[in-house]
Order: sequence, then structure tokens, then C-alpha cells
Amino acid sequence: MTTLAGKTAVISGATTGIGLAIAQRFVNEGAHVFIFGRRQAQLDAAAATLGRNVTAIRADAADLADLDRVAAAVREQTGRVDIVVSNAGYTEQAPIDTLTPEHFDKAFNLMARGPVFLVQKLLPMMQGRGSIVLVSSAMHLMGIPGHTAYAATKAALRSYARTWAAEFKDRGIRVNMLSPGVTDTPILDAQSATREELIEMYEGMVPLGRMARAEEIANAALFLASDESSYVTGADLMADGGIGQV
Ligand SMILES: NC(=O)c1ccc[n+]([C@@H]2O[C@H](COP(=O)([O-])OP(=O)(O)OC[C@H]3O[C@@H](n4cnc5c(N)ncnc54)[C@H](OP(=O)(O)O)[C@@H]3O)[C@@H](O)[C@H]2O)c1
Repeated sequence: MTTLAGKTAVISGATTGIGLAIAQRFVNEGAHVFIFGRRQAQLDAAAATLGRNVTAIRADAADLADLDRVAAAVREQTGRVDIVVSNAGYTEQAPIDTLTPEHFDKAFNLMARGPVFLVQKLLPMMQGRGSIVLVSSAMHLMGIPGHTAYAATKAALRSYARTWAAEFKDRGIRVNMLSPGVTDTPILDAQSATREELIEMYEGMVPLGRMARAEEIANAALFLASDESSYVTGADLMADGGIGQV
């Protein structure tokens, strides 16, 4: 398939899970992808899995100097950006009674502050065209105990999508948010429940009766990244099996 033929995509946190599935889907559709994450071994493995049309950069999406390095690498290699996927994230639960400033700042630095500067640094290479996809979570509109900081960072992305859709009005750039529901990726290992407990719990809670596969979220990302969504901006695409809808 060639839906993204000739396009350049930058995807943060694309070494595992949803980000890697998005990178794979974009490469299959003809794009060149720049992926980044902090762990070199996972980065090497992801680049090997993708096999072609990939540039892997070791970088922390919360570190503005690292984001400058990513932008410089893209500028040098392709000089253009068509698609930005802000995806890097993690979960760490903390009830409000014991939540620390460090916990709060770490979440906000990566998942609320990071996307702003990722987009800012890549914008000069999005000349009159492009699509920005902000990976949020169905949790941004749900109340799940222990997720004060995480859910709030994901809600911030909803506001960015609206503001930037308006701000980029005359620049030909669309901005949308993608809100996955529970998806079977390594992030689940950071939950307090075991994987088996999570599967059982979500089978009961999710209208579609199961977790998502990362590839299903990548399908939604492809829609938002490609011209298939040419009249969609400022939106929130919930790919959540219905958990945030009922
Ligand atoms: N899986 C779910 O159920 C689910 C549901 C809703 C939303 N989401 C969201 O989907 C996104 C991807 O999550 P996932 O489920 O695919 O988890 P994952 O498999 O753990 O992947 C997380 C990715 O983010 C990268 N990352 C983490 N911290 C980073 C940092 N400081 N700088 C750069 N990269 C960083 C990781 O690489 P390194 O560790 O090597 O840096 C990894 O590539 C996250 O934003 C998450 O909040 C996931």
C-alpha cells in the first residue's frame, strides 16, 4: 500500500507497543519514519523489526535538548515533516494522599510539556501541509482512581488539539487526538494488577469485551495521519472498544 508514499513521519516513543505498531503501519504504507526513545537496545530492535525506511534516534521526549537533536536529524536527512505522532508515555499510579511533586512533574514533563515542544520544533518543517496526531487515552474523560497526573496530562492533549486546530487554520496542518482504550502493550506491566487480572477485568468493562491490539490503534493513527481524514481536525478519535462511551 502507498497511502503515505513519500511522506516523512516523526513518532516519539516508537520502540515498543502502540508507537512501534504505528511506525510499522506507516512504513508499510510508504512513509519514512523517524522514531525515538530512551533505550538503545529497544531502539535497535525496533529499527531491525521495521527493516527499511527508518531512522532511529536515542532521545528523551521530555528533554528539550534531545528534541532539538531529533529535529536537527530530520532537517538534515529529509528537511520536511508531514506527520508528527506524539506518543511517548508511561503510567505510574499514585493516590492523591501520597502523590509526590516528583511523580507529578515527571508525568507532566513527558506527556503534557513534551508534546508542545516536539510540535514546536518540527513545525518549521511542516510547510503548508501535514497532520499531527496526539496519542492520549480514553482515561482523559474517565475517572479512574490513582491516575490524577496521568489522566490530566492526557486531558491537556484534548485542549492542544482544539487550540492548534484553530491556530494552524491558514497553514494546512490538521491536528487530532487519538484516544486508545486498554491496549495489550508492555505499558500494562506497570499496572498494579497482573496481566491476567487486567484481562479479566477489562473483559467485563469494555463493550467489545477485550483489550485492543496495538495494530488496531495503528489503523486509527493511519486514518488521522493520511488524507483519508482530510476534513478532520481538532477531533478526538476514541479507539477504545467503547469503554469511554458507556
Ligand atoms: N497500552 C494502553 O493500554 C494505552 C491506553 C491508552 C493510551 N496509551 C498511550 O499510548 C502511548 C504508548 O503506550 P504503549 O501502551 O505503547 O506503551 P509502551 O509499549 O510502554 O511504549 C511506550 C513508549 O514510549 C517510550 N517512552 C517512554 N518514556 C519516554 C521518554 N521519556 N522519552 C522518549 N520515549 C519514551 C518508550 O521507550 P523508552 O522507554 O525506551 O524511552 C516506548 O517506546 C502512551 O502515551 C500511553 O499513555 C496506552
